[in-house]
Amino acid sequence: MAGSHHAIIYGASGLIGWSLVNQLLRSYDVASFSRITAVTNRPLNLSESHWPEPDRKQPVLQLVSGVDLRHGDGATLAGCLKEAINDIDTVTHIFYLVFTAIDDDLEEVAVNRSMFQSVIDAHGLVSPNLQFVTFPGGTRGYGIYAPGGTFTPPLREEMVKTLPVDYAKTVVYPAYRELLTTASEGKKWTWCEFCPDAIVGFTPNGSQYSLALHWAQYLSLYAYNHGVGPFAQTKNSNPVEVPFPGNAAGANSLFSPVSSSTIARCMINASLHPETFGNGQLFNIADSETPCRYGDLWPKLASWFGLVGVGPIEDSQAKDHNLGVGELPKATQSLTPGEYIIRHRGVFDRCGRASAISGGVGAGHRQLDSVGYWLTFDRELSLKRLIETGFMETRDPVHGWLESFEMFRKAGLIL
Ligand SMILES: NC(=O)c1ccc[n+]([C@@H]2O[C@H](COP(=O)([O-])OP(=O)(O)OC[C@H]3O[C@@H](n4cnc5c(N)ncnc54)[C@H](OP(=O)(O)O)[C@@H]3O)[C@@H](O)[C@H]2O)c1
Repeated sequence: MAGSHHAIIYGASGLIGWSLVNQLLRSYDVASFSRITAVTNRPLNLSESHWPEPDRKQPVLQLVSGVDLRHGDGATLAGCLKEAINDIDTVTHIFYLVFTAIDDDLEEVAVNRSMFQSVIDAHGLVSPNLQFVTFPGGTRGYGIYAPGGTFTPPLREEMVKTLPVDYAKTVVYPAYRELLTTASEGKKWTWCEFCPDAIVGFTPNGSQYSLALHWAQYLSLYAYNHGVGPFAQTKNSNPVEVPFPGNAAGANSLFSPVSSSTIARCMINASLHPETFGNGQLFNIADSETPCRYGDLWPKLASWFGLVGVGPIEDSQAKDHNLGVGELPKATQSLTPGEYIIRHRGVFDRCGRASAISGGVGAGHRQLDSVGYWLTFDRELSLKRLIETGFMETRDPVHGWLESFEMFRKAGLIL
């Protein structure tokens, strides 16, 4: 029997947003949510969403597309929401997963802050029953965009308070905390933040920073070009090696990835337990307390495509490169995944997978290419705070990648 909560998900087409709607519809906590409103900016049809087919036992889903939060203020947005959304006054839970990447960091902070402010102001006008707001920050907030990183891992939540000021103003998460602290003062609702490192998951129509999609497109084209995989015309029976796209230090550094379903489930749980998670607390999140190395994951990912994933061509330990976010060494010895996709993407069209071209990664393309070269330092997360809540779910991080690959193939986004 469904409960009385109404969840609104902003950024429902994104990596975390898609998974949140998916988890809510798959009756993750049917006893709590009777209504879900999924809000997207770009057009999205339910028939293309890959969410489960409607079912009487599920919460009622309304999908509202075309809401560009960059336009207007809270009052304007409140007017739009009232017009477009059924029972906006019954909204109890806001899941805010919107992010827009802009080259200029300060402008990026200002634009993203202003979009979240509009959402909070709008609901202040139209949703008197609001109980909980939650959003994801990220390890960018621990200074990982600075060459070599900022803090000695494991990264702990209290470290964000000592982030160097010049760096902190280039990240939007401190601005989100400030706005929610002010807006929730004296109100009935409370909020929390989750901090993921790399998020691994599915989206139906692309994403700005999906490493899983970027590498899956690369590996599927690489397999095809070497006579491997379901679409290959001339089959190659010899093992085909694919080197890790980075250097040895990038392959060997420790980090804590999270699948989108893990973070979605945890955000839902948190929103239903304000006494444990509320009051503006920050929680690191990952699939496992044991950190991973890309070098260990790579062979398992390549193997799904019928390839043999091997170590990097470039064996430098690379800390001497001192690269920052989005930077690549001057001369890489092979095409980066992004360059490879651009060179060969005509194959998607020829194989009847045109949506792989429109539904690839967006603004984060270069940053994703640099992952194996720039992230050469350990940056694993401490999960102590989350474990102490009793809500930590553990899964093998490889599962999230393979599940996403299955979905990408089903949705025609890879070969
Ligand atoms: N990706 C990662 O690995 C990662 C890692 C750590 C932290 N994070 C953080 O997680 C948060 C969400 O990131 P994500 O990776 O889930 O991003 P994403 O997949 O690119 O999704 C972003 C969402 O924001 C929406 N959006 C963008 N501009 C908008 C606008 N003007 N108006 C309304 N909606 C807009 C997009 O909607 P449309 O698609 O409809 O335009 C999309 O649904 C960000 O704060 C990010 O920094 C991400």
